[in-house]
Amino acid sequence: MPTVLITGAARGLGLDFVKQYAAKGWKVLACARQPDGLKAVKGDIQPHGLEVTDYAAVKALAKALSTEAIDVLICNAGISGREAGDLGSIDPAVWRETFEVNALAPLMMAEAFVEHVARSQQKKMIAISSRLGSITHNDGARYAYRASKTALNMEWQSLSKDTAGKGLISVVLHPGWVQTDMGGKAATLTIDQSVPAMVKVIDGLKPADNGRFINYDGTAIPW
Ligand SMILES: NC(=O)c1ccc[n+]([C@@H]2O[C@H](COP(=O)([O-])OP(=O)(O)OC[C@H]3O[C@@H](n4cnc5c(N)ncnc54)[C@H](OP(=O)(O)O)[C@@H]3O)[C@@H](O)[C@H]2O)c1
Repeated sequence: MPTVLITGAARGLGLDFVKQYAAKGWKVLACARQPDGLKAVKGDIQPHGLEVTDYAAVKALAKALSTEAIDVLICNAGISGREAGDLGSIDPAVWRETFEVNALAPLMMAEAFVEHVARSQQKKMIAISSRLGSITHNDGARYAYRASKTALNMEWQSLSKDTAGKGLISVVLHPGWVQTDMGGKAATLTIDQSVPAMVKVIDGLKPADNGRFINYDGTAIPW
């Protein structure tokens, strides 16, 4: 069976990715700051403690998993940066943290695990981005979050160019506005409407999709 690695796997969208792939019989490398709760999820799940901004830990995990072929890498962990959202409340510390978690950490994951993905059958690198990172769709506010996701999108575009020769398929996915701790109760989608749809999109990815920005329902999102 194929193998998937997921960050931010203990709650929200990440936890449902774990459940969806485990239910399909995949081996799930489930990375979370507090992975203990993942033991209760049924399936072939290997929980790993991982703070994604601890880059020594990211490298150590890549080394510990050096015999694994990872079919799908899902960089899902993220923060909202809401406290520094608007003009008048720009907080450099929150900005730096938002960029660190949302933009730098996924790139460090990609760098650490690119060879694990390259030696797999499916060779897919997924970043969970956001439509709020689309410059075309920008309607203001949420400065730190938007900019961090725009940076993530650019990184994944570069990744798609730099690793196409290895046969990798790198895409950024927007999950929709989803009822999680981050999305809040007013969000338009439930986790059940978002994650299984994203899994379907990931299942269907072909080399021609490399470098795309894709909505949870498979439609394209303009950069
Ligand atoms: N929900 C939405 O409407 C929506 C829309 C667009 C994009 N997204 C994106 O989807 C992804 C998942 O969001 P969500 O809605 O599931 O949010 P969530 O419920 O707030 O969960 C965020 C996850 O990220 C993890 N995380 C945050 N900082 C981390 C760090 N430094 N190291 C390791 N893990 C860390 C959290 O782990 P802990 O449990 O340890 O805190 C948690 O598992 C994010 O990238 C988010 O930007 C969400």
